[in-house]
Amino acid sequence: MPKNVIVTSALPYANGPIHFGHVVGAYLPADIYVRFRRMLGDQVHYVCGSDEHGVAITLKAEQAGQGYAEYVDHWHQVISKSLADLDIDFDIFSGTSDHRNPQHRALSQQFFLDLQKNGYLLEKTEEQYYSKAADRFLPDRYVSGKCYECGYAEARGDECPSCGKYLDAKKLIDPRSSLDGSVPELRPSKHWYLDLAKARDEWLQGWFTGKKGQWKVNVENFVLSELKGLRERPITRDLPWGVPVPVDDSAGKVLYVWFDAPIGYMSISKQFFEARGEAERFEELWSDAETELYHFIGKDNITFHAVVFPSILKGAGRNWILPENVPANEFFNLEGRKFNTSKGWFIPEDAVKGQFPVDALRYALCCMMPETADSEWTWQEFKSRVNDDLADNLGNFVSRSYRFVEKFFDGVIPAAGELRKQDLELLASAKKAADEFEAALRSFNFRRAAASIMALGNAANRYYDSEQPWVSIKSDRASCAASIRLCCEMVQSMAVLAKPILPNTARTLLESLGLPGDSGELEKLGRLNLGEAEIEGAPLTNSLPKHRDSKGREKTALFPKVSDDFINEQLNKLKAMAETDSASSGDPVPKQTPVIEFDQFTAVEMLCGTILAAEKHPKADRLLLLQIDLGSETRQIVSGLAEHYSPEELPGRQVVVAANLAARKLRGYESQGMVLTTETGEGKIRLLSPAEGTANGCPIK
Ligand code: 2FM
Ligand code: ZN
Repeated sequence: MPKNVIVTSALPYANGPIHFGHVVGAYLPADIYVRFRRMLGDQVHYVCGSDEHGVAITLKAEQAGQGYAEYVDHWHQVISKSLADLDIDFDIFSGTSDHRNPQHRALSQQFFLDLQKNGYLLEKTEEQYYSKAADRFLPDRYVSGKCYECGYAEARGDECPSCGKYLDAKKLIDPRSSLDGSVPELRPSKHWYLDLAKARDEWLQGWFTGKKGQWKVNVENFVLSELKGLRERPITRDLPWGVPVPVDDSAGKVLYVWFDAPIGYMSISKQFFEARGEAERFEELWSDAETELYHFIGKDNITFHAVVFPSILKGAGRNWILPENVPANEFFNLEGRKFNTSKGWFIPEDAVKGQFPVDALRYALCCMMPETADSEWTWQEFKSRVNDDLADNLGNFVSRSYRFVEKFFDGVIPAAGELRKQDLELLASAKKAADEFEAALRSFNFRRAAASIMALGNAANRYYDSEQPWVSIKSDRASCAASIRLCCEMVQSMAVLAKPILPNTARTLLESLGLPGDSGELEKLGRLNLGEAEIEGAPLTNSLPKHRDSKGREKTALFPKVSDDFINEQLNKLKAMAETDSASSGDPVPKQTPVIEFDQFTAVEMLCGTILAAEKHPKADRLLLLQIDLGSETRQIVSGLAEHYSPEELPGRQVVVAANLAARKLRGYESQGMVLTTETGEGKIRLLSPAEGTANGCPIK
């Protein structure tokens, strides 16, 4: 049964450019998810826009000497272009300012009044700094002075840039207004607070814990601990820009940006339906209990989407739906440091433009996505993903299959033969890939979804290698035709799987097979249309793109390869930008080691052993084949020690072995465990040894 689905991506602040960290956090995963749900036949409504209010924006606009509307317009254009360049395909990308979205103010005010009527707002009067010179209240960020924690002279009212502590503006020593340098005075000011503790006790805790196991682990852990200490939060500010508080005697007061921003998802959706003349759809969709609502965000926005916004939605008492899920990603870094646009530590928009298709970027970003832990962009990884996966796996399979159709079958996809064992196995691989792909995307595992496409590519390439069509074309043309036909079916299968992550590549491939560019149903894969003759007899319109390789030669290929020169050029550019833009580049990322449970540690069986024999791996220069006596048995272990030890010096060495690792093949030789090593400061690898005289097979605990 098709579902109605609303997908939102965090509204980006209209006060600066977005970088890859934002893209992998909230935009690319949402876009992939939207395309995936559409493939399943669901009706998806995808909304986003600029977050245009708040102190961060008023301050920067004032510093730039620009009007607020003019300032946000500039960044709105810049951001929407960056997202469009990545083929992030919103139904609407609007914003929260009055001039961009005429629905926003009224809807936000309606929420405020609903919450007030339903008893979810508290009123409090507290002292706040006021500038007589500017005749306005000063939010904490507008006050500077000496830090009472560390003595730093230029601390901000909300935070000290020197010691990093959150500050209470009222305790700053020698406070001054950053607007005009005047000494501010304290005046009473009334504000409204959202009673989150009431929401928690009435229903929020029950609702959140009732969905335990459905949230991503990072979201669940964070919110469960957050719920315990939940308190009321102020939802108004004294500021000249924002949604005015809709009650008497509140001149100069606006709704806090974090109150009105998530309502932006709804007001932008309302704007979309109004513009299409379907105004009634807005309420229908947002209050139908069957509608699924998903908020894609970065981890710093979890509280607002899993706690605060649901409290606003429910507290309004109009049966607005609550999020089905809040798939938050962790942080994304760049080459070991935090992205920092103002310090020059970012990737310029045009870094790959014109050289690599946008799909290559989307795919590489997808593979590096910080789904469960922080991750980082490295140019080396970009090269591996493009070259190993897109060019050598997917691209190579398409090229070799198509070349064969062109050369030996006059460019027409041949008829299928009787299905043989190997054909059925390949079809089963397609079915398995489709199942894995669907399960992965349903649970927001974008990396696993990408891997399932490549797993099918590997299976298809292996099939081609073992079918040897270049041999069978001479001896058994019918059998060759059957193999090549199945290869074309596999191109179709991979194109279908590629649709959410690599939408342009998918279209190119489907069209090259004579199919509509937007065709392809997931559940058909592996049961295939053999017999339905979907592509049989279709002339290949070999519309694969042309690229220039690193030597300037023109090549027809699905993806161009990334050269070492290109990678070095990017790394040098990054270094140069960081040096020119600031004295220091982005802040180093503190080393993060995930905490594991004691059981996870004891699950590894570590045993003492002695190397009996060592020899070079016949096919890999860096590997050695070791025979190790573990007391009750001898194990073969393949280890990357060849650059650090010669085979002759190893027999007799006592070592520590991780003994219960699943065996795996390394370049054709089975490795039944791993020897433990340590890295010296100079990058040398040394074997770890147990205390002298320890018997083989003794456990390490
Ligand atoms: O963190 C941010 O960039 C916010 N502008 C996200 C807002 S999301 C939503 F609530 F609008
Ligand atoms: Zn300080």
